[in-house]
Amino acid sequence: MARTVFRLFTMSVAVLLLLGLQVAAEGRRNRCFFNRTQEICVCYNLSEETAGSIIQCLPAPVVEFWGGDLQKYADFPIGDLDDSIIDTLGSLIIQKIIIGNVLVPEVLLARVLRFFSYTHVRELAFDSCIFQGTGDWSDMDGQDLPILSLSFHNVTCAPLTGHEPAFSSLGRWLGTLEQLAVTSSRVTSLPCAIGRLLRALHSLSLAHNSLGDGSLAPAFCQGAFPQLQQLSLHHNNLSSYQGVCEGVGLLPQLQHLDLSYNELRAEPSSSCQWPPSLLHFNLSNTGLDEVPAPLPPHLQVLDMSHNHLHAVDISLSSMRKLFLNQNLLQAVPSIRNYPMLDTLHLDNNSISELPRAEVKFLGRLQDVAVAGTPFSCSCSGAGGLQALAAMGHLGQGWPGDYRCHSPEQYQGWQVAQVPVSVLHCDPAAVVAPLCVALALLAGAGAVCLARSRACRRA
Ligand SMILES: *[C@@H]1O[C@H](CO)[C@@H](O)[C@H](O)[C@H]1NC(C)=O
Ligand SMILES: *[C@@H]1O[C@H](CO)[C@@H](O)[C@H](O)[C@H]1NC(C)=O
Ligand SMILES: *[C@@H]1O[C@H](CO)[C@@H](O)[C@H](O)[C@H]1NC(C)=O
Ligand SMILES: *[C@@H]1O[C@H](CO)[C@@H](O)[C@H](O)[C@H]1NC(C)=O
Ligand SMILES: *[C@@H]1O[C@H](CO)[C@@H](O)[C@H](O)[C@H]1NC(C)=O
Ligand SMILES: *[C@@H]1O[C@H](CO)[C@@H](O)[C@H](O)[C@H]1NC(C)=O
Repeated sequence: MARTVFRLFTMSVAVLLLLGLQVAAEGRRNRCFFNRTQEICVCYNLSEETAGSIIQCLPAPVVEFWGGDLQKYADFPIGDLDDSIIDTLGSLIIQKIIIGNVLVPEVLLARVLRFFSYTHVRELAFDSCIFQGTGDWSDMDGQDLPILSLSFHNVTCAPLTGHEPAFSSLGRWLGTLEQLAVTSSRVTSLPCAIGRLLRALHSLSLAHNSLGDGSLAPAFCQGAFPQLQQLSLHHNNLSSYQGVCEGVGLLPQLQHLDLSYNELRAEPSSSCQWPPSLLHFNLSNTGLDEVPAPLPPHLQVLDMSHNHLHAVDISLSSMRKLFLNQNLLQAVPSIRNYPMLDTLHLDNNSISELPRAEVKFLGRLQDVAVAGTPFSCSCSGAGGLQALAAMGHLGQGWPGDYRCHSPEQYQGWQVAQVPVSVLHCDPAAVVAPLCVALALLAGAGAVCLARSRACRRA
């Protein structure tokens, strides 16, 4: 028993980055909790005493480690694994490891990382960790790893800055990495060299950092990130729309770009060209008071919600989804230039009416939202919205969030409750045909009367 525990323990240690704590000890207290519904195993305060309970995590696809100090194991001798351990590592189902709130000596990380090559771990995430010192990464020279997704959130000393020698030793593996996130870690720059190693990367998030306009061009230099499709830069220190355009201009495959939560300036007009591959563009919460130019030419999804736009006049025939909620628009933008559009969100603007002519076009969309705007509940105003709702195109928010602002008699009413029958809306239109009908009736009556008299006479 002790031997099995020892073996499992040694193995899990290797897998779980627990570096050879080759001291077998059964867990005195159960510090690992396996939630079978979520298939997540969570371990707290890692140390020799608690390590035995890692065994119950072996059937979990996701294992999390929170708390603990690995510093005292920094100099622990880690030998090669024997064949049976390597076999067992290969049979484990663990796919994702999250390490949180841990002090990680880099020298240790450098020594245990290669053991991942025997496992099927595809995702490795560090959350609120502090990386200490510098490691010797030469053991990783030419080493493949199964890890495809790597993330660092709220880490101190993001291990990507100023570690060029490590990059080259890790080059083989980095060349296969598909997703990388370094978020909330005060990143101000990214060396050009790393982007050139990340040849297979298709998704990069650098959200919640301190990247400025000048740091993009060096990071996305010629030959860097040749496969990158998704780039998230929300919550950074970017300010120039043109600067960002120039900074990402060399990314040949870029499809999604998220710049939300940066305080952007739209310069008068710029000659910069966005990568033509760009399809999704997020400019939400960027303080814009006009639509910046140029926009990427083949855009399909554009989010400019939560800005200060007074008017929107874009003509991009490829557009499918347009988010303009929370702006200062006073009228529905003309959507005749968007043959492919299926979604238009205009909530929380200052639009008071949907003109009937536009309702006809809006009726072709699948998802329209105009809640939270000060509607004029004139007959045509309320009627247009009711017609749209009847077509089933108004998204959530109908009817509760659609309220009348004017005229006085309907103020505060739900638009849905305003009577818009012909009788209410256009008495003239009712009265005139009525008169004609009456006249016709009278005429017919007269004819009939005349006829019947004629009949009787006959
Ligand atoms: C497992 O996680 C689910 C969802 O968070 C939770 O409702 C449940 O109580 C957890 N089970 C155990 C045994 O902790
Ligand atoms: C982990 O250690 C911290 C402080 O050392 C303690 O507050 C916490 O309760 C421990 N957690 C568990 C699950 O034992
Ligand atoms: C970030 O990580 C530090 C430890 O490095 C931790 O003390 C802090 O609470 C974390 N902050 C957040 C918001 O998680
Ligand atoms: C943001 O950029 C401005 C210059 O554009 C600079 O003065 C400021 O220090 C930067 N802030 C951070 C947090 O990096
Ligand atoms: C744009 O970014 C905001 C904030 O980061 C997010 O809430 C929104 O869902 C994004 N829009 C799209 C269309 O993905
Ligand atoms: C509109 O504003 C209301 C109140 O401020 C808010 O609760 C709602 O989430 C906003 N809707 C959109 C789509 O922005």
